[in-house]
Amino acid sequence: WRLQAPLIAEINRLKREKDAVILAHNYMTPEIFHGVGDYVGDSLGLAKEAAKSKARVIVQAGVHFMAETSKILSPEKKVLIPDLQAGCSLAASITGADVRLIKQRYPGLPVVTYVNTTAEVKAETDICCTSANAVQVVEEAARLWGVDRVILIPDEFLARNVARQTDIKIIAWKGRCEVHERFTAADILEIKEAYPDAEVLAHPECPAEVLEVSDFAGSTAAMNDYVLTRKPKRVVLITECSMADNVAADAVDTEFVRPCNLCPHMKRITLENIYEALLHERYEVTVDPLIAERARLAVQRMVDLPP
Ligand code: 13P
Ligand code: SF4
Repeated sequence: WRLQAPLIAEINRLKREKDAVILAHNYMTPEIFHGVGDYVGDSLGLAKEAAKSKARVIVQAGVHFMAETSKILSPEKKVLIPDLQAGCSLAASITGADVRLIKQRYPGLPVVTYVNTTAEVKAETDICCTSANAVQVVEEAARLWGVDRVILIPDEFLARNVARQTDIKIIAWKGRCEVHERFTAADILEIKEAYPDAEVLAHPECPAEVLEVSDFAGSTAAMNDYVLTRKPKRVVLITECSMADNVAADAVDTEFVRPCNLCPHMKRITLENIYEALLHERYEVTVDPLIAERARLAVQRMVDLPP
């Protein structure tokens, strides 16, 4: 941290010079999250900030689909991602052509798409959701369309976890998050045996068997709120590794047990490439305007939902 202080100071100076903001996801390393992030949070929170921001430049300290979402909501801004290879196994699991085929197979059903998708997929979507609002969005879509079945893609596990919480029938896809699919119920039971007082908080991208033995399921922002408001004595966050590091900095009374998996895509973003991104205003993320216009409807519908 201390060694990084000059680079952090230089990034913060460049942000002012360039009229830029850094939107940092909860999975960024602490020096990014606490050192240079102007807005930090989950996918939903960052999308809302992108829509509101008045800055000329947005640097997305996150993965490519997040930068595309920012561009879709703020087409007049320059949106930069420090590494173009920062992808996502969920976004890579489905194409626009796949969604068109699903729609042919289930005509008349609303398509709810997780934000972890490309702009091309969002353009085929009726309304987007994140892990923070998926149940609400599915129920709202069923109500608006007057149906009892909804297409929810591409995360198979998120779809299954939403299905457990609603009477709406869910048609799912086979995408998975390569970070969360690796957790098993046996991992959780082992932790509970070693630390009987630990509260287990798991992300809804985990397999259903993991959520069944966890104490709470929620988005990264919901986990953050849980720890900061309920102040558990001991906690385990079943998610990406940086999450616990970032919350721990603010949760001094809580002890963290730290089994976690790294997201190789999120970890492509570093202080060094954020600095280069700001300095050279690279790498710009663009979205075909016709695709962006259709995708915007789906994202905006989600952003406009009541909290
Ligand atoms: P949330 O931050 O929306 O919970 O999503 C987690 C995630 O995997 C983002 O890539
Ligand atoms: Fe995608 Fe999973 Fe990484 Fe999030 S944690 S960016 S869902 S691979």
